Amino acid sequence: MTAVPRVSTSTPVLSQPTPEGNRLGELWSILPEESAVDEAGVLHLGGVPVTELAEQYGTPLYVYDEAGLRRQIRRFIDGLNARWPESEVLFASKSFPAVGMYRVAAEEGLSVDIAGGGELRLALAAGVSPSKLHFHGNAKTDAELRMAIDAGVDTIIVDNTDELDRLERLLTKPQKLLLRVIPGVDAKTHASQATGGADSKFGLPMDQALAAIERMRAHPLLEFEGVHLHIGSQILDVEQFGEAVAKISTAGEFDVYDVGGGLGVKYTYDEVAPSVDAYLDTIVAAARAHLPSGARIMIEPGRAIVARAGVTLYRVTTVKRTGRTFVAVDGGLADQMDAALTGQRFEALLGNRALDPWTETSQLVGRQCESGDLLVDRAPLPEARVGDLAVVATTGAYGYTLANNYNGALKPAIVFVRDGAARLVARRETYEELLALHAPALEG
Ligand SMILES: Cc1ncc(COP(=O)(O)O)c(C=O)c1O
Repeated sequence: MTAVPRVSTSTPVLSQPTPEGNRLGELWSILPEESAVDEAGVLHLGGVPVTELAEQYGTPLYVYDEAGLRRQIRRFIDGLNARWPESEVLFASKSFPAVGMYRVAAEEGLSVDIAGGGELRLALAAGVSPSKLHFHGNAKTDAELRMAIDAGVDTIIVDNTDELDRLERLLTKPQKLLLRVIPGVDAKTHASQATGGADSKFGLPMDQALAAIERMRAHPLLEFEGVHLHIGSQILDVEQFGEAVAKISTAGEFDVYDVGGGLGVKYTYDEVAPSVDAYLDTIVAAARAHLPSGARIMIEPGRAIVARAGVTLYRVTTVKRTGRTFVAVDGGLADQMDAALTGQRFEALLGNRALDPWTETSQLVGRQCESGDLLVDRAPLPEARVGDLAVVATTGAYGYTLANNYNGALKPAIVFVRDGAARLVARRETYEELLALHAPALEG
């Protein structure tokens, strides 16, 4: 792990500046909790100037505020525990599958939701106890199920009856299971993020679920414990979670109800997102109304744990004023795929010139060959210059997950910052690694 020296700013760090023309005042609620701007206009994250981070680790760079991240985890764990003591918070690790993050999750007492052999390997390598792992997926292979069983994962969330065939074949000892049920709730979110409607590819409809439960109960090694649902992601109306709990209660009385993840976060100036407390209040009120009082309740937040803690640093490579102003950076949808996949829009600032007058409206665009590679539509910014440091906020969830090699892009590095120090938790991919996959063709 590489460390950046502690920041020693001789000038006091401002925590809430709102100089004329800029929108920093509004950005505070979507930037990481440990953000500040010094008198030179440089953004500090976890006490480290972003200019130093970019210099030392290069760009694009995923940066996470570790203290804010840990605080947000505590809000979920303590908040649910205070309301419903027989409960468990799972981190939906697909939102940020990094060994450094699995380790933080384990240290803070989260259980972990994994959805594939790769996530299983990463979690185990990070030291997550198998007894904390819950294995999801609508198309688990024999090989993955074998890996999970051999590792001793706590629970497998069964999606379908083909998976039951596989488990019956593979299990040699009892295995705890939940069954994923389609609750029939159409989440108000992007179509690609809605997973609980009647035609979802995930889980079984109620009638088929009841038959699958009978089948599990009849088998000596299939330890059926309860049901699971997940209505989708980036859901901003908490009432939909309450509705899902009510729907799932009609499946019957069980020991466990896992009500999934999906709590949405505020990405843009205009968006309003519910608090963790409002979300937990709604779920627990619905549980009190509809579920057995002795049942164990699980939730699986991903995005709402990691999104705000993370930002992405980019170097401005081109500024074009062609009627509109295009500020192009050295990354894009290759490291922020949600921009194209779900049309997600972000907000940004110039991390090296935050206190300059914000006088221009710019299209903050990426470098991949797609017009949909738009990070911020009509971004209020200072007049950008080549070499500036664009900081895109609220990119802690699904950015690293979906990172790809479009146009030969390399997967960025990840740095955690805390108390004025930075530590590298994943290094940048290299061109050599990119080429290594093609060794067969090169040798041929
Ligand atoms: C089964 C399951 N649980 C939890 C999550 C996490 O969702 P989010 O990151 O929106 O909280 C997902 C995401 O798709 C999921 O598929």
